[in-house]
Amino acid sequence: MQTKTVFICQSCGSQSPKWLGRCPECDEWNSFVEESLRNNGAKGVRSVIADIVSSDAPKKLSSIEQKDLLRTNTQIGELDRVLGGGLVKGSAILVGGEPGIGKSTLMLQAANIISKERRVLYVSGEESLSQIKLRAQRLGLSSENLYIVNETDLVRIIEHIKDIKPYMAVIDSIQTTYCPQFLQNAGTVTQIKESAGMLTALAKSSGVSVFIIGHITKEGVIAGPKVLEHIVDSVIYFEGQKESPFRILRAIKNRFGATDEVGIFSMEEDGLKEVKDTSGIFIQHKDNPLPGSSITAVIEGTRPFLVEIQALVTASSFGMARQRSMGFDLNRMVLLIAGLQKNIGLNLSDQDIYLNVAGGVRVNEPASDLAVTVAIASSFKNALVRQDTVIMGEVGLTSEVRRISQPGARVNEAKRLGYKRCMLPMSDYKSLRNLKGIELIGVDNVSQAFEELFI
Ligand code: TYD
Ligand code: MG
Repeated sequence: MQTKTVFICQSCGSQSPKWLGRCPECDEWNSFVEESLRNNGAKGVRSVIADIVSSDAPKKLSSIEQKDLLRTNTQIGELDRVLGGGLVKGSAILVGGEPGIGKSTLMLQAANIISKERRVLYVSGEESLSQIKLRAQRLGLSSENLYIVNETDLVRIIEHIKDIKPYMAVIDSIQTTYCPQFLQNAGTVTQIKESAGMLTALAKSSGVSVFIIGHITKEGVIAGPKVLEHIVDSVIYFEGQKESPFRILRAIKNRFGATDEVGIFSMEEDGLKEVKDTSGIFIQHKDNPLPGSSITAVIEGTRPFLVEIQALVTASSFGMARQRSMGFDLNRMVLLIAGLQKNIGLNLSDQDIYLNVAGGVRVNEPASDLAVTVAIASSFKNALVRQDTVIMGEVGLTSEVRRISQPGARVNEAKRLGYKRCMLPMSDYKSLRNLKGIELIGVDNVSQAFEELFI
C-alpha cells in the first residue's frame, strides 16, 4: 500500500501535492518538506484530554454568564504589562524569539515567582533536569512548588498536567513536543500545530495557564511559531540583539488586552532584570557622534523612548547596489531612499545602504521616517547631525514632513533626557509652540530639515 504524503511549507503551513522550490503563499524559498498523512495508530492525544475537554451544546447568548477574567500578577512588572495586566487563568500564551534570546530564562523566573503560592509545572524537552537546576542556581531561585519534568511526548505531558494540577505550565519548547499518533518528526508544521492546538484546548477547559515557548529563526525556514499565532490566546515575542544586553518583549496578539505594550529587560549575570527607566538605553554614540547617526523618539504602547538610527552608505563595489535594514521596515526604507533621490537630488543609486536601529529594537512607526532619512543623508554626505536634536516626523512621497501621533509625549521625553532641540512636523510644532525648556523646530519638508540639522 502506498503511503499518502503531502508537501507542507514549514514557514506558513500551506500544502501542495508536489515539491515546490518556492511557497506560492508566503514566498519562502526551499520551505517544503514531505510529510506523511498516515496515522500510526498510537493512542491519540484527543482521547487523553477527552475527559477534560467537554463539547457543550450551543447556548443562547443571553443565557451565558459573564465570568470575570482571573488574573495573577507574575510580579515581573514588565511581563504583566505585556500580558495586559497579569497572567489570565486558563489562557495559552506563545513566547517566541530566536534561540538564546532568553525565553527559558524568563519563563523559569516567572515560574519561580508564581510557584511561591501555587503549583507550577515546567516541562523541558531541551535541557536535562541538572541543566535546569544549574540555571535555577545561577538565577538564585528556590521554590517548593516548582515541578520540573523532562518530556517531549504530548500525551505524557498532558498526563503530568492532569496529575499535578498546576496553576501554570511551561512547555519548553513546542519544537521538541510531539503527538505520538502522527508519524512526522517533532518540529514539523503538523506536529507543532497539533500540539499547540491540544495545549490551548487543555488550557481553556482545565483552567491551567500554559506558556508555550517557540523558537523562530531570522530566516524563518524552520517551522515557526508564525503558524501558531491564530491558535493560541496571546503571542509575545522577544526581540533584541545578542551583543546588546537589552531585550524587548512585545505582544503581537492578546485576546485579553492591548497589543501595543512592550516590556524591557536587560540580561544580566543572574538572569533577566526589568528596565524601568529606559532613559537613553538605545543610544550608543551620545558623546562622540559619527556621521550616519540620528536620534528619534518612538512610542511603544504608552511609553515614549529615544532610539538611535544608524546608517552606513558606501559606494557599491558590485554591479548591484545593496540595501539592508535591521530594525526598520526595508520597503519603507527603499521608499525613503527613492524620495531622497528624486526630490532632494542625492544620487544614491550606486550606493550600498545599510540601516540599523541601535540596541536591537524594532521601530515600526512612521514617525521615525525623518530620522531614517537624515541618517542616510548624513552618512552619504559624511556630515554630522547635531546630536542635541531629537528628530521626528513621517515622510511622504514628495518628501513632505507629515504630522505624527502624540508629539507632546515624545518632546517631553526628549526634554527629560536633557536634549536641547526637537525637530517636528510644522503642524505639530504649532500645537506645541508654547512648551518651555526645549527649543522646537517645525519643518514642512525634508530639505528644510537638512538645512537645520547638518553641521
Ligand atoms: P535562554 O533563556 O537559554 O534562551 P532561549 O531559551 O531563548 O534559547 O538564554 C540563554 C542566554 O542567556 C545565554 O546566552 C546565556 C544568557 N544568560 C545570561 O546572560 N544570564 C543568565 O542568568 C542566564 C540564565 C542566561
Ligand atoms: Mg531555551
